[in-house]
Amino acid sequence: MDLKVKIGNSLFPNPVTVASGTFGHSEEFYGFPEVRGLGAIVPKTVTLKAQIGNPPRRICETPAGMINAIGIENPGIDVFIEKNLPPLKKVGVPVIVSISAHSDDDFVIMVEKLNAAQGLAAVELNLSCPNLQKKVLIAQDAEATGSVIRRVKAVADMPVIAKLSPNVTDITEIAAAAEGAGADAVSLVNTFSAMAIDIKKRRSRIGNFTGGLWVRRSARSRSAWSARPRPG
Ligand SMILES: Cc1cc2nc3c(=O)[nH]c(=O)nc-3n(C[C@H](O)[C@H](O)[C@H](O)COP(=O)(O)O)c2cc1C
Repeated sequence: MDLKVKIGNSLFPNPVTVASGTFGHSEEFYGFPEVRGLGAIVPKTVTLKAQIGNPPRRICETPAGMINAIGIENPGIDVFIEKNLPPLKKVGVPVIVSISAHSDDDFVIMVEKLNAAQGLAAVELNLSCPNLQKKVLIAQDAEATGSVIRRVKAVADMPVIAKLSPNVTDITEIAAAAEGAGADAVSLVNTFSAMAIDIKKRRSRIGNFTGGLWVRRSARSRSAWSARPRPG
């Protein structure tokens, strides 16, 4: 069966990828045959300058899934391109680099650096990370979303994917702004804003107070089940 997917001018052998941040930048996974069978690898988001991330605790389990507030810990784009990208390219799977920034200018600088690095299948703009203590995320504002995508599309040598946030009233409005600005695809979705309280300590179980919830599959099917009408 032909499962190939085309985004812009890039061809992917199948539609299965890892979500950014669930895979780090580490080489220990690259030898696994399952990794070589992926349609693409999306490594952890990188930023212009290195970031040390949020204070611990950064991850906690809840009955509904896992809350994380890593804070985009990463070595910065220059180190990423020099040290992390070469082994990643050798895996033989298309690479979609995920980037995030506080301003349109920084996004453009990063994309120019990625153009020079060559051979990438796409760039994913993480417009939706809920962990950097911003009041409004780019992905919560249609105008800001359109603006950054237009700027990036004007310089990018590769397809541009806009990764959106579920923490909005109407995601179709933001997705339409992304499409109107020329995004080649949207990536849905980043994590849901969440907090878990330690009732004995009377404080958040996460160092950053709030984080993003990755929703447990069984919680998804349980809630689908509990929404069904019960007999009797
Ligand atoms: C530990 C962890 C770290 C993450 N880091 C990033 C990140 O750096 N950049 C990003 O765009 N998304 C990040 N995410 C979000 C995931 O890429 C994904 O969007 C989210 O888990 C929802 O995926 P799902 O719909 O498959 O549950 C992270 C998620 C987790 C669990």
